[in-house]
Amino acid sequence: MRTTRRVFLQKISGAAAAVGLRCGPAGHPASASVSEKLLDTSALARFVDPLPLPTPARATGLRPSPKEARTRIPYYRLAMQAFQMKVHRDMPPTTFWGYDGTCPGPTLEARRGQPLLVEWRNELPAKHLFAVDHTLHGAESDKPEVRTVVHLHGGRTAPESDGYPEAWFATGQSATYHYPNEQEACALFYHDHAMGITRLNAAAGLMGLYFIRDEFEEGLQLPRGAYEMPLVIFDRSFRLDGQIHYPISGKTGAPWVSEYYGSAILVNGRIFPYREVAARQYRLRLLNASNGSFYRLSFSPDASVTAEGLAFHQIGSEQGFLAAPAEINTLILGPGDRADIILDFRGRAGKDVYLRTDVAMVMQFRVAAEKAADSFSLPVTLREMSKPLESAAVVTRELTLADYQNRLGRSKVMLLNGAHWAMPVTERPVLNSTEIWSFVNLTDDSHPIHLHLVRFQILDRRPFDLAVYQLSKKLVFTGSTVELAAGERGWKDTVRVDPMTVTRILVKFEGYAGRYVWHCHMLEHEDNEMMRPYEVVAS
Ligand code: C2O
Ligand code: CU
Repeated sequence: MRTTRRVFLQKISGAAAAVGLRCGPAGHPASASVSEKLLDTSALARFVDPLPLPTPARATGLRPSPKEARTRIPYYRLAMQAFQMKVHRDMPPTTFWGYDGTCPGPTLEARRGQPLLVEWRNELPAKHLFAVDHTLHGAESDKPEVRTVVHLHGGRTAPESDGYPEAWFATGQSATYHYPNEQEACALFYHDHAMGITRLNAAAGLMGLYFIRDEFEEGLQLPRGAYEMPLVIFDRSFRLDGQIHYPISGKTGAPWVSEYYGSAILVNGRIFPYREVAARQYRLRLLNASNGSFYRLSFSPDASVTAEGLAFHQIGSEQGFLAAPAEINTLILGPGDRADIILDFRGRAGKDVYLRTDVAMVMQFRVAAEKAADSFSLPVTLREMSKPLESAAVVTRELTLADYQNRLGRSKVMLLNGAHWAMPVTERPVLNSTEIWSFVNLTDDSHPIHLHLVRFQILDRRPFDLAVYQLSKKLVFTGSTVELAAGERGWKDTVRVDPMTVTRILVKFEGYAGRYVWHCHMLEHEDNEMMRPYEVVAS
């Protein structure tokens, strides 16, 4: 273990191998950063702030489509601004950066097949909220300190609108992106992606949700309106003055730290919020927007973290609906992950329900005493989903995840397949071809690996002998494949690659040719070389 105060789960759902999945909050790695007195957020009064919901984004008008000038499509303008938000009743206001001065930002909503335009405007101060590390590639001191670029995570977007990390723009500038929305109903995640400072921009609050709706979804008659609730979850630590604490390494001129774990878990920007709900079924749209924390979430009948979790149904993963609703009582959500779930409050009228991790309370639902009308009945199946067909792959790539440490065992850099960002592109899949990407994790951490543009299916996750691999580059498996969680059997765009396992995904490179990126979604890793360009080449 390289740092202290981490919570390690030794096993997940029958996994044979030891799994270094950390569930927040676990504090920042104290050994690797300068200590400063922080607010004890665990001592804050619980459930005193109502849960806010992100506001819907409003189009400012219509503009000619860049694809076809005769059609006019909705045009949104979202400005990134510094603002103040009270995250808890008993805390002073905290400075955040957010789209339209909100965090989470306004929720964009699109219908499948109906494109839209967003002008992302940088109206942020010229000085960053947090310490920029100019030794990181792409964040050198000849660049403006505050730079932004927006990526729609999970979106099938053309390269020029995808938010390439080097396509950043500075304060006073903007970029207008085209989103075709030609994909199935799902919850997407927009957030900042500027080269070398993504972790800092995200920690400041630059994030929001983007829903795509379609006819199929409507046919399911899921709970909607007030009964569909977005829950954007992220963790932060706070200083005594109520401002966000982002740790620094203590190394002069090189403040980067290898991970960020906050002491408090916020939902839609509040610590320990509560929400009054009707005694009926709700559709919850969860997003883990944390820089680096994984959560094992469950719903409890009381305010303890040990109570038996209530059953709920997962109906969708990152890229839309599962084949069938899965009854579960815990859900692992890594950075960038989304989950679509149905939670039934009918049996809890007049009582409370709590959302929690393994180690911390997150929020409270206060269920009304009166019975509520509820005509929704969960279908037995949701949609046809074929088993991933390995034989469809024309290329298999073995890609390592590795951590390079200094004498003290602290991370210096983490690389994908031993390559730095600026090295020539090595992953060049052909448009419309299918490949297997086999991630060989040589580190002792779980890494959430995300590919832009595509959706994929997980083939398997399997423990292997690390020592043998390091000597001979040969994969010798030490056990059988680990059972995938229900949500991992759906369409994904981010996959958890556990330590000392090989995780394989089957990906079809559909949509567009051009330059994209793949990376670890622990933003501290991503900012320090755990990100690579890849290029979809036209056949
Ligand atoms: Cu959610 Cu490349 O990121
Ligand atoms: Cu990582």
